[in-house]
Amino acid sequence: MIFPKATLFAYVSLALSLQVTAGPVPESKRSQGVGIPLRRHAGLQTEDGLFDLNKAVARMTRTQNKHTQNLINFQANKGYLPFTGAKIGSFLKVEDLLDIDLDLSLGKRQSVPLFNQEDIEWLGPVSIGSNNQEFTIDFDTGSADFWIVSRSCNDTVCTSKHTYDFNASTTAQEQSGNFSIHYGDGSTASGDLFTDSVTVAGVTAKDQFFAAVRNLSGTFDNDPIDGILGLAYPPLSKIKQDPFFTTANTQGAVPSNQFSFYFSSGSPGSNDSELFLGGTNPDLYTGDFDNVDVEGDKGYWSLGGASVSVNGKKAVDGLSTIIDSGTTIMYGPPDAVKELYAKVNGSQEYSAARGLWSYPCATPPNITFNWGGKDWPIKGEHLNLGHADNSGENCVGSIAGQELNLGDNVWLLGNTFMKNVYTTFNFDTNQVGFAELKQ
Ligand SMILES: *[C@@H]1O[C@H](CO)[C@@H](O)[C@H](O)[C@H]1NC(C)=O
Ligand SMILES: *[C@@H]1O[C@H](CO)[C@@H](O)[C@H](O)[C@H]1NC(C)=O
Ligand SMILES: *[C@@H]1O[C@H](CO)[C@@H](O)[C@H](O)[C@H]1NC(C)=O
Ligand SMILES: *[C@@H]1O[C@H](CO)[C@@H](O)[C@H](O)[C@H]1NC(C)=O
Ligand SMILES: *[C@@H]1O[C@H](CO)[C@@H](O)[C@H](O)[C@H]1NC(C)=O
Ligand SMILES: *[C@@H]1O[C@H](CO)[C@@H](O)[C@H](O)[C@H]1NC(C)=O
Ligand SMILES: *[C@@H]1O[C@H](CO)[C@@H](O)[C@H](O)[C@H]1NC(C)=O
Repeated sequence: MIFPKATLFAYVSLALSLQVTAGPVPESKRSQGVGIPLRRHAGLQTEDGLFDLNKAVARMTRTQNKHTQNLINFQANKGYLPFTGAKIGSFLKVEDLLDIDLDLSLGKRQSVPLFNQEDIEWLGPVSIGSNNQEFTIDFDTGSADFWIVSRSCNDTVCTSKHTYDFNASTTAQEQSGNFSIHYGDGSTASGDLFTDSVTVAGVTAKDQFFAAVRNLSGTFDNDPIDGILGLAYPPLSKIKQDPFFTTANTQGAVPSNQFSFYFSSGSPGSNDSELFLGGTNPDLYTGDFDNVDVEGDKGYWSLGGASVSVNGKKAVDGLSTIIDSGTTIMYGPPDAVKELYAKVNGSQEYSAARGLWSYPCATPPNITFNWGGKDWPIKGEHLNLGHADNSGENCVGSIAGQELNLGDNVWLLGNTFMKNVYTTFNFDTNQVGFAELKQ
């Protein structure tokens, strides 16, 4: 199986996790929804500040495998694939990518800080069970299952994790069913299914299905997360059960069937990012929402009819865009991304295999996404992944051309897009809304 090197970077920058300050929410606040502060966790650099290729490859394979699993789940649930041109590929191993990546890893890596100070995870707390077992979780709009590490995990990596002990929770029930994860080192893990009460910042879903995995790959070493909580639609669920937010809404635990994300541009470790459950937080945005319909029944928060422009000139259109809080940068099909950078004055191919391009740092292009309403620009600071070379004249762009196998004209818009806007995800209207950030 051939994977373009571009894949690397894709995942490289991306996973989001959140850190929350949980606790009981007063009734008065409940009616208005509740905000969860998210904390960024630094990730893609070595101690000397260089881009960490190994970590990047681990990220990339994890994300690629996530979407491969999503396609398998969707096919199993619906009997077809969500997008024209989608293909279920093989699960990737980190080694596959390291092999093809040696040129860049051994060559430029020594001297080039590829990525700047970007953080890759936003971590938030979740508690499970009658005895409030606490976990640090990555909230992911690009998947639909919830998993954490089980108490019965004996692997070394599990000693640094919070693990789920179902025996200690009087509300836990063992359930039948299958869950498995394909890790980037080629290993897989099985999970036992349970139902128990799951609480995020005071919002509780009772009898929520989730998986507790019995072993964990070493690729989770140095990664603070204990698991991932999916926020997409039920058709992407491997365990064929309602995701957390769907359960919470069905049980009336949130005032509206809607959640929102704000990712701050603040410094690493800052707590000013937020996941808001049950509505939007007016303190964080201004003006009206540009509400875009979700494409029917694809499982993803996927928005059709998108176009991308460069300095006001349309570069590509007819795109489906998946809004994925679990991915760091933006990805499009290699040919489309090439067309986009062709409209950028002074752009150069940086890594053909990885679909990465550079542009003159002094004159960043104004790249905007549009879904038929307003133009949503990518700020220069979010387009810039770091210097392309020691001269500091050229910067690597955070839009990469990579074959994700999700389908024709399907783009993945991760954190480098979401940081530019306030984003709300509405299950009632089946829309994603974008609003301008309050200054
Ligand atoms: C839970 O309890 C059962 C029997 O009481 C025991 O066999 C099992 O190992 C325990 N599991 C964990 C994760 O402690
Ligand atoms: C779990 O998977 C096995 C085989 O992979 C299958 O026979 C079994 O029916 C599955 N169980 C459930 C509950 O889906
Ligand atoms: C973990 O170790 C215990 C005790 O040695 C063993 O009973 C259990 O099966 C192990 N769990 C896994 C998942 O290997
Ligand atoms: C988990 O355990 C199974 C069975 O012992 C093994 O095949 C698999 O490789 C393990 N996975 C990890 C990530 O250690
Ligand atoms: C972020 O929140 C955590 C937990 O509440 C706290 O320990 C930490 O000091 C906060 N960090 C900053 C920069 O405010
Ligand atoms: C592109 O850049 C070159 C050199 O910086 C400049 O001379 C030229 O005017 C620019 N073209 C446009 C369309 O901005
Ligand atoms: C980019 O274009 C949008 C409109 O398409 C405009 O509102 C914005 O000010 C432009 N940004 C820059 C930095 O020129």
